Amino acid sequence: MSEAFGFREFGGPQVQDFFDRPDPVPSPAEVLIRVTVAAVNPLDHKLRSGVVPQFYGDRPFPQVFGAEAAGVVLAVGADVEGLDVGDTVFGCTLSGAGTYAGTTVLLGTNTARKPEGLRDDWAATIPVAGTSALNAVDQLDLPSGATILVNGVGGGVGLLTAQVARDRGLHVIGTGSTAKRTLAEAVGATFVDYTEGQVVARVRELAPDGVDGVVDLVGGASLRTVAPLVRDPKKVVSVADPAVAELGGEMVHRRVDRADLERVAALMVEGRLDPYIVRTYPLSQAPEALALVESGHALGKVVIDLTGGTASEG
Ligand SMILES: NC(=O)c1ccc[n+]([C@@H]2O[C@H](COP(=O)([O-])OP(=O)(O)OC[C@H]3O[C@@H](n4cnc5c(N)ncnc54)[C@H](OP(=O)(O)O)[C@@H]3O)[C@@H](O)[C@H]2O)c1
Repeated sequence: MSEAFGFREFGGPQVQDFFDRPDPVPSPAEVLIRVTVAAVNPLDHKLRSGVVPQFYGDRPFPQVFGAEAAGVVLAVGADVEGLDVGDTVFGCTLSGAGTYAGTTVLLGTNTARKPEGLRDDWAATIPVAGTSALNAVDQLDLPSGATILVNGVGGGVGLLTAQVARDRGLHVIGTGSTAKRTLAEAVGATFVDYTEGQVVARVRELAPDGVDGVVDLVGGASLRTVAPLVRDPKKVVSVADPAVAELGGEMVHRRVDRADLERVAALMVEGRLDPYIVRTYPLSQAPEALALVESGHALGKVVIDLTGGTASEG
């Protein structure tokens, strides 16, 4: 049994609750872990709001928030290869078991051993945010020296995307609100503050012939504004909005397999990628952590420490 934070039905923050949950029983394809750190993603509040009710099928309520975590393996399903009890790991709960809880189950194929030298909180940001950044930049497949626009550069996926792109020798232009400038510039992006207006004109000043690729993390009207800035419409990818297909681009094909988890982890261990965890909350403050991400204007990554720590910044 462990304490968990989740929701009793689809709805707004008023349906959220803490409750005790029996340790989930791993299927043959899963591992049971003691969660050390869970990362917070927009997916968490989107699932609570019921905007993607099909995501986990007809999983019974109450449901537990969270899709990515780091932790220690307590039990291993019969079909899981390459993971043992006692391993420190990080991965995804694609079954919807949630990660804002003392224990959860992760799918073995979407879980990797944490390499030496990688912090648990950094590892917890890899399965959703880290691999999204990797998959997006991989998909654009641009040569060194090309210019990429990261729309929404200051959030969890945006800062990681900018770093993966820079690591491949790409020039990065990033859009965000004023508070995102410092971190965007710290990761090497040329920052365009959308609150000042004139986003298109400003990007055209920086890239008069247009950009070579766009990674969109915002969607909607913002995506429609920046998409025409790319020379080849096929080089617009989004993780946020399937309507990108109407503009000639495509959604990022997500894999979240063990090989990608290990690739992102290696970049972090080698000092080439920082998830920029700006706030760490204890489980008791999970509502505040989620509200910050639900504001739509989070800076970097927000994580929840399940080991009994207190709230901290930076
Ligand atoms: N399909 C997948 O597998 C997958 C995986 C990961 C994420 N996602 C989706 O990708 C999106 C981004 O995720 P995330 O974790 O990076 O979210 P996040 O941490 O909340 O960051 C989103 C960022 O976008 C910025 N933003 C909002 N409006 C903007 C605008 N008009 N122009 C430029 N920037 C704007 C926000 O702050 P400011 O406005 O203050 O700059 C914020 O920094 C979410 O919709 C998420 O659900 C999908």
